[in-house]
Amino acid sequence: MDRWRGRVALVTGASVGIGAAVAEELVRCGMKVVGCARDVEKIQKLAAECQSAAHSGVLVPFKCDLTNEEEIVSMFAAIKEQHKGVDVCINNAGLGHPESLLNGKTSGWKSMLDLNVLALCICTREAYQSMKERNVDDGHIININSMSGHRVVCSTDGHFYSSTKYAVTALTEGLRQELREANTHIRATCISPGVVKTDFFSRLYKDNPDKAAGVCSRFKPLEAIDIANSVTYVLSAPPHVQIGDVQMRPVEQVL
Ligand SMILES: NC(=O)c1ccc[n+]([C@@H]2O[C@H](COP(=O)([O-])OP(=O)(O)OC[C@H]3O[C@@H](n4cnc5c(N)ncnc54)[C@H](OP(=O)(O)O)[C@@H]3O)[C@@H](O)[C@H]2O)c1
Repeated sequence: MDRWRGRVALVTGASVGIGAAVAEELVRCGMKVVGCARDVEKIQKLAAECQSAAHSGVLVPFKCDLTNEEEIVSMFAAIKEQHKGVDVCINNAGLGHPESLLNGKTSGWKSMLDLNVLALCICTREAYQSMKERNVDDGHIININSMSGHRVVCSTDGHFYSSTKYAVTALTEGLRQELREANTHIRATCISPGVVKTDFFSRLYKDNPDKAAGVCSRFKPLEAIDIANSVTYVLSAPPHVQIGDVQMRPVEQVL
């Protein structure tokens, strides 16, 4: 990770869960991390913890609702002004709503598309443009995908969510191909976890806490730090190595 020391990473959804763990790990490795989410106070608290742990990098909290394109564009403008630009973009923010295909609400589908697909694409485009204008040829865009982007589980609560993650699989490979056409060495990777112990399921089942708790009690789930370790593994691969996807499940997870 030494070559990333002092470089700038954007981590979306850095207030809790996987994003918070990734942000902290990159700060520990000496990066300047802009962490964004709506609940900026949580990121400020994490930034203070990073400081008292004497990590060699720094976490810069940024309030941004990623479902609003103007807020994303202003965030990139502020990063350009204050930190020159983005060298690594971790598209992590994502959510699920248990809206089935036969009876679900359109508003829930739209909210998943806005965050899991559109915000990821807007951040990717803005990050690439930031790298290109500064002649950064070794940048990295990492999408936090899901095993749900690779197989459809028989659960009506997850079918639409799964389609947004299949989109992430296609977008990561499409991005890799466009980067080849652009003749750059910027890399595109997705990381596809199975069940991870975070707030994801209590948010998904906000009206049914027992169901949320049930998901992580059937077997020992992954921890957010496991995903953060995959991010540093992918980033620390030699510059000529392009890791396309890291699929990782808890050992006891079947599907
Ligand atoms: N947990 C799992 O089992 C699992 C498995 C596979 C893949 N994943 C994927 O991993 C990623 C992270 O999930 P997680 O498990 O860490 O979930 P989480 O604990 O619910 O965290 C989600 C993050 O996204 C942010 N976010 C949500 N809406 C946002 C918005 N409109 N604007 C900006 N940020 C927003 C949240 O921050 P605020 O609410 O403060 O805005 C939070 O920081 C997601 O893409 C998820 O699909 C999770």
